[in-house]
Amino acid sequence: HEKQEARPLRQRLLVVANRLPVSAIRRGEDSWSLEISAGGLVTALLGVKEFEARWIGWAGVNVPDDIGQRALTKALAEKKCIPVFLDEEIVHQYYNGYCNNILWPLFHYLGLPQEDRLATTRSFQSQFSAYKKANQMFADVVNEHYEEGDVVWCHDYHLMFLPKCLKEYNSKMKVGWFLHTPFPSSEIHRTLPSRSELLRSVLAADLVGFHTYDYARHFVSACTRILGLEGTPEGVEDQGRLTRVAAFPIGIDSDRFIRALEVTQVQEHIRELKDRFAGRKVMLGVDRLDMIKGIPQKILAFEKFLEENPIWRDKVVLLQIAVPTRTDVPEYQKLTSQVHEIVGRINGRFGSLTAVPIHHLDRSLEFHALCALYAVTDVALVTSLRDGMNLVSYEYVACQDAKKGVLILSEFAGAAQSLGAGAILVNPWNITEVANSIAQALNMSSEEREKRHRHNFAHVTTHTAQEWAETFVSELNDTVVEAQIRTRQ
Ligand code: ADP
Ligand code: G6P
Repeated sequence: HEKQEARPLRQRLLVVANRLPVSAIRRGEDSWSLEISAGGLVTALLGVKEFEARWIGWAGVNVPDDIGQRALTKALAEKKCIPVFLDEEIVHQYYNGYCNNILWPLFHYLGLPQEDRLATTRSFQSQFSAYKKANQMFADVVNEHYEEGDVVWCHDYHLMFLPKCLKEYNSKMKVGWFLHTPFPSSEIHRTLPSRSELLRSVLAADLVGFHTYDYARHFVSACTRILGLEGTPEGVEDQGRLTRVAAFPIGIDSDRFIRALEVTQVQEHIRELKDRFAGRKVMLGVDRLDMIKGIPQKILAFEKFLEENPIWRDKVVLLQIAVPTRTDVPEYQKLTSQVHEIVGRINGRFGSLTAVPIHHLDRSLEFHALCALYAVTDVALVTSLRDGMNLVSYEYVACQDAKKGVLILSEFAGAAQSLGAGAILVNPWNITEVANSIAQALNMSSEEREKRHRHNFAHVTTHTAQEWAETFVSELNDTVVEAQIRTRQ
């Protein structure tokens, strides 16, 4: 019974993530406005309530001057956020370069960019140095705000070097690290020139978490095959020190979505949308405009469906809401043009003077508008080529208790493991299969829709963001206590 039994109700938690839950927009020399940031990491962490949490991260903007930095620090403090200031060059090399041009595509099985395959290129080396430098800057800020007993929870591929930096500051700090993306097969990870250094720094954490058991297994295999360490059912062992590795599937704050449907403004939106699309079935895609989301493949599958099902041509519409993301990275710019080109071609081919089959918006929707869309649509199409979890699928299910719409879900999203029994699972690379699944969804009986929805709704409302965070933090507390017991023995 040496385990901690009664923990303080609200444990102090330092959440460290590259992206703060709010992004800053400069309005004047010392005035800022803050907007909620997009992305699954932010959505899930905003659903975590039962801790005395502080966020440490980047506000998404370059602030070179002291006046601006002081004013922004003050504005963020009201949101319990602490900024890490990164200059333009670091952002370019660390965020656009190493994080989003190298780690992100690699972890999603899209390979390393061509010019970096040679591994010896100067850009790779300088980007990796910037990555380490940026991680050290995050560690400095954490160290400044750390109080004994705090739990430090590091998030995502941006901060793989952070656990090591933190333990170098203070080996007693309780450090957890959670990856929001897939961790790829060890055969993929081993192509990364900095493969060993990254694994070793992650292993400095006390607890390492992934969305699914498969990702955790890939990570352990990478440590055994690349570093020659021992993998155990508990995690990875290095000279008697255990790093615990486990799966903690993330969730959403489902009540927030369910409650939003009662709000008058949302109900008005719902009525407007119903009038606007009366007589047509509505399909919905909501994604960051990212190549892992399989947006071109989704639209091509919709085209194939229209081609093969002429009777549906004026009876169905696809709303694709794609918020631009990482717009300084050339691959993302190319994707935007590619999507616009395909949408234009299909609307030209199947549209009429009064209607088009695809409504594509390059923007973020505010929460209430998004909930209304989730609630009125008949089918959601999530066709990620790879996705750590995919919370859009969870949000759709949470908002569909009245309508019981159909979720078409990629088998390569982590969510396929939790929502697979209720969704129609598809291989997003197989456009014919996705087109057939659209026909299946639109023709599905109400009994079958009800049955599938029940299954998914039960999952989404019980496996919440709050439960995810509590499980992770409690496991981290226990892991540290067990390690202390082992060292004493
Ligand atoms: P990722 O983390 O890769 O972006 P997820 O599906 O897990 O993927 O999470 C995306 C989050 O961002 C969701 O909470 C979703 O509501 C939000 N989001 C994505 N696209 C939009 C959009 N166009 N407008 C508003 N919110 C969006
Ligand atoms: C994914 C990543 C997050 C990231 C989000 C938005 O969810 O796992 O770490 O915050 O995408 O991307 P951005 O680059 O805008 O932070």
